[in-house]
Amino acid sequence: MRILVTGAAGQLGRSLAAPLARHDVTAYARAELDITDLAAVRAAVAAVQPDVVINAAAYNRVDDAEADATDAYRGNALAPRNLALATAERGVPIVHVSTDYVFDGRGTRPYHEYDATNPQSAYGRSKLAGEVAVREINPRHYVVRTAWVYHEQGANFPRTMLSLATRPEVRVVDDQLGCPTYAPHLAQAIAQLIETGAFGTYHFAGSGSVTWYGLTCRLYALRGIRTPVVPVATEEFPRPAPRPRYSVLTTLQEPRIVLPPWQDALAEFCRALG
Ligand SMILES: NC(=O)c1ccc[n+]([C@@H]2O[C@H](COP(=O)([O-])OP(=O)(O)OC[C@H]3O[C@@H](n4cnc5c(N)ncnc54)[C@H](OP(=O)(O)O)[C@@H]3O)[C@@H](O)[C@H]2O)c1
Repeated sequence: MRILVTGAAGQLGRSLAAPLARHDVTAYARAELDITDLAAVRAAVAAVQPDVVINAAAYNRVDDAEADATDAYRGNALAPRNLALATAERGVPIVHVSTDYVFDGRGTRPYHEYDATNPQSAYGRSKLAGEVAVREINPRHYVVRTAWVYHEQGANFPRTMLSLATRPEVRVVDDQLGCPTYAPHLAQAIAQLIETGAFGTYHFAGSGSVTWYGLTCRLYALRGIRTPVVPVATEEFPRPAPRPRYSVLTTLQEPRIVLPPWQDALAEFCRALG
């Protein structure tokens, strides 16, 4: 397949290279293709003539979006709309990636693809607007919701925790439950999905669930770090954007594509760090 990847320098974007290696991939980082520019997006799709477009670009500054959500809507709603328009015009399928933040986090069992959305943050609302645009404009869509993404390169929670390990102790939130997702596993799942032609919405996140505290304990154990980890409540770290307390994702969809358990993924991440 000929595949156009946008947002290629991000955690997911760079992870897509390996599972798509047998395809003919054109991967554009933001400097090469800013997807908020409809004319540029149309020109790129016309030039590459892809069989599928994978959008790994997003505005992910969750807290900044609370004060002024304009850039969040530009990056997370207008930009995927541009891609949906440019692909729909040519009958090209699109993969668009969204987030657990489209849910309100008040659930008591894992969210599946048919659960009602109710975003609580500007970021979550902007991502939901992007999902809606893609679904409305291009019927040949795969909307993939994921969560807590991390990779050896990039700004993410496990890397932050490793950088804090020199402190006398590390205090970590223990009342938010979610699904850490290793970007290479998400990329593999997307590579599998595009072969199916089974358009629709999918939840792809690491299997199982854990709190940020539990994740940190496991990470430190794997790295042989002995810094004490103290479980604390969300209130200890006030943030502009509300965080979902319960963010566990599961999938009901067929074909059934399930990511490896988060514990295995974290071990793989540690091996990749070296
Ligand atoms: N990270 C998470 O924990 C998480 C959780 C749930 C869902 N997701 C979703 O998963 C997907 C992949 O996330 P990720 O963690 O790989 O994100 P990431 O590492 O932040 O990468 C996003 C990439 O998109 C680029 N980008 C931003 N605006 C763009 C634009 N207008 N045109 C082209 N490129 C643009 C960014 O470039 P710059 O660096 O230059 O801005 C960055 O390279 C996103 O849809 C995200 O919303 C992520």
